[in-house]
Amino acid sequence: MKYLVVGSGGREHAIAWRLLNDASAREVFAAPGNGGIDEKYRANIQADDFDGIARFSRDNKIDVVIIGPEGPLSNGIVDFLEKEKIHVFGPSRAAAQLEGSKLFAKMIMEKYRIPTCGYRSFSSRADLLKHIDTIRSYPIVIKLDGLAAGKGVGIPENRIEALEFINAMVGEKSSVFVEELVKGEEASILGISDGETVKMLISAQDHKRVFDGDRGPNTGGMGAYSPAPVMTGERLKRVYDDIMVPAVRGMKKEGIPFKGVIYAGIMISGEDISVLEFNARFGDPETQVILPLLNGKLGDIIQGSIHGRLDKIDFSFSNRHCITVVMASGGYPGDYERGKKIEGLENVSDNIIVFHAGTNNERAGIFTNGGRVLNVTGTGDSIQSARSLVYGEIGKISFIGAHFRKDIAYRALG
Ligand SMILES: Nc1ncnc2c1ncn2[C@@H]1O[C@H](COP(=O)(O)OP(=O)(O)O)[C@@H](O)[C@H]1O
Ligand SMILES: [Mg+2]
Repeated sequence: MKYLVVGSGGREHAIAWRLLNDASAREVFAAPGNGGIDEKYRANIQADDFDGIARFSRDNKIDVVIIGPEGPLSNGIVDFLEKEKIHVFGPSRAAAQLEGSKLFAKMIMEKYRIPTCGYRSFSSRADLLKHIDTIRSYPIVIKLDGLAAGKGVGIPENRIEALEFINAMVGEKSSVFVEELVKGEEASILGISDGETVKMLISAQDHKRVFDGDRGPNTGGMGAYSPAPVMTGERLKRVYDDIMVPAVRGMKKEGIPFKGVIYAGIMISGEDISVLEFNARFGDPETQVILPLLNGKLGDIIQGSIHGRLDKIDFSFSNRHCITVVMASGGYPGDYERGKKIEGLENVSDNIIVFHAGTNNERAGIFTNGGRVLNVTGTGDSIQSARSLVYGEIGKISFIGAHFRKDIAYRALG
């Protein structure tokens, strides 16, 4: 089998690694990929170049294309490639609205009784501002309807911060809503669906803030671990029964069956579980800790989703633990420089997997090429041992300005 993975992050490197590692694939190409992927298998095609991806797939007789990021899914890459008779893993443009429009997701959740937070929507900045005038207690949650690369949610602590967020992010005619704030612990639960059946992956927890102790601005994710102890068997079953199954059945009833990864970002508060959002693709960095624990062939699962026979595919997860720590460029998530030489990759223990993200492979070595640069990943019999392994090795890798969190998985160690 020949696969093409579309995207350039740590998630895409992890998917490619897994396909090769479990013998799902003979060859895995990446478009555009990153410095962790053999040059021979990198196609210089961006994820939004649908024609380029179709042409490459035909020319290289690719059996299956896997779409990593949300942008191309929301823009209809799956519909486009299917029309070209290319097998592709991911939801159609209509189904990807589950992520691409938070209000569409709200509609589905209300209609199919999926637990989520109450909200009130507005179709202009003026209407939202009128509502803000009536608010007496903070913090509040303000969400843009559309994709905003992780910047579309504001949790202002007071009126001044609310107005700042609105001025910066909400256009005159933006579709936007104010959501009830829930406190608790978050987790990421991913399922794979073929439009009919949905199967759950092992739970994971991401760390969005840039600094230890969940302080500082939000990032794309500074690290993750799996499984998350907060996701007991009982809670996982509830997520399956009350969230995943109704969502997949609901989408089918709407005439827009959901194929691909359905990812629920949930908040657990006491006995309650509410959905904060759905994503329509693998999480980054969650994928980097989920795939090393998979028992089974990733390729079979993906083909099961594409061909509507996921009910016949068996897989499970090992009872080990996995952690990934993101090494980021100096200044990230603000402005940062690229082109710093990465030293020491060859010194890291064989028990560690380093998934690349923003890197480039040049004649003189591997250089930084993005905000999140590397995902230093390890597994162990316990989360403690996985964590000691990774933190014991990460110091061997360096580049100017590099920073990483020292407390990934702290919730599991309580
Ligand atoms: N209703 C809510 N109550 C409390 N925190 C929330 C709520 N909605 C979102 N958040 C916080 O904001 C983060 C981002 O919101 P989310 O809906 O996941 O949007 P996105 O990932 O698109 O930015 C969440 O991970 C969570 O920490
Ligand atoms: Mg989120």
